[in-house]
Amino acid sequence: MKLGFIGMGNMAQALANGFLAAGALAAKDIRAYAPNQQKLAANAKKIGFLPVGTAAEAVADADFVFMACKPAQIAQVITDLGDALAGKAIVSVALGWDLARYEAVLPQGARVQFVMPNTPAAVSEGVFLFEAATTLLADEFDALRALFGKIGTVIMLTSAQMGIGGAIAGCGPAFVDMMIEAFADAGVRYGLTREQALVMTSQMVLGAAKLQLVTGKHPGELKDAVCSPGGSTIRGVAALEEAGFRANCISAITAIMEKK
Ligand SMILES: NC(=O)c1ccc[n+]([C@@H]2O[C@H](COP(=O)([O-])OP(=O)(O)OC[C@H]3O[C@@H](n4cnc5c(N)ncnc54)[C@H](OP(=O)(O)O)[C@@H]3O)[C@@H](O)[C@H]2O)c1
Repeated sequence: MKLGFIGMGNMAQALANGFLAAGALAAKDIRAYAPNQQKLAANAKKIGFLPVGTAAEAVADADFVFMACKPAQIAQVITDLGDALAGKAIVSVALGWDLARYEAVLPQGARVQFVMPNTPAAVSEGVFLFEAATTLLADEFDALRALFGKIGTVIMLTSAQMGIGGAIAGCGPAFVDMMIEAFADAGVRYGLTREQALVMTSQMVLGAAKLQLVTGKHPGELKDAVCSPGGSTIRGVAALEEAGFRANCISAITAIMEKK
């Protein structure tokens, strides 16, 4: 399967790294175009994909064209590519560019799947929100779902759910990174080295998340199980509640959804 990336920034690099590290694709099967050719060449050397000089070259042989530039650039990219996109299968990862928006501007025969990915894709722990509305052919959809399934979890959402899904899965890693940094700061404050504090905090977050996923237990039940009467953990829980921890997490998502 051949992919042609339009844009090779943070998200596209995470996907390319993930596909290559998981052995899902060979480096020669990933072509990418970006305007800053020097930066593209440096990334190509680091990651292994084939850099190309024009968007048309990235698209020409691609089974899937990955639209991975900024949302504001997409309309111009589509205009510039014109008929080169006719008959192509497009995978778009751009925030806000759902199927309905593409259908208004794409040339005849171009098919689209809107996917909201996140950067943990680079280490095969991605979340990929697939818009249920798609114009991909059934075999294209199956192949794409299987490809993303090799580097994370695919979740199908209605078009109306893609916004909230993207807020949690796409923006969420930054919030968890802030939490990891804060716990590591506390560790350093009480005598751990930065490295010790970061390794134990990140592994703790990974482990807690995996325990919830594997057991399927409500997180409240998992929290209760480690809070002994009058113990240390419940003191921490009370301090977090006083500081509005859970309300603040909800506020972060509300700020995204309501563009506050
Ligand atoms: N970052 C995330 O966590 C995340 C999560 C979900 C979805 N997304 C989506 O992924 C897309 C890319 O985001 P990002 O964070 O990767 O941004 P980014 O790091 O700024 O990358 C943008 C890429 O687009 C290229 N580009 C700029 N103008 C272009 C043009 N006219 N034609 C083709 N390529 C062009 C840039 O190339 P130069 O550097 O050469 O200018 C760069 O490679 C966005 O649509 C975003 O909504 C991102």
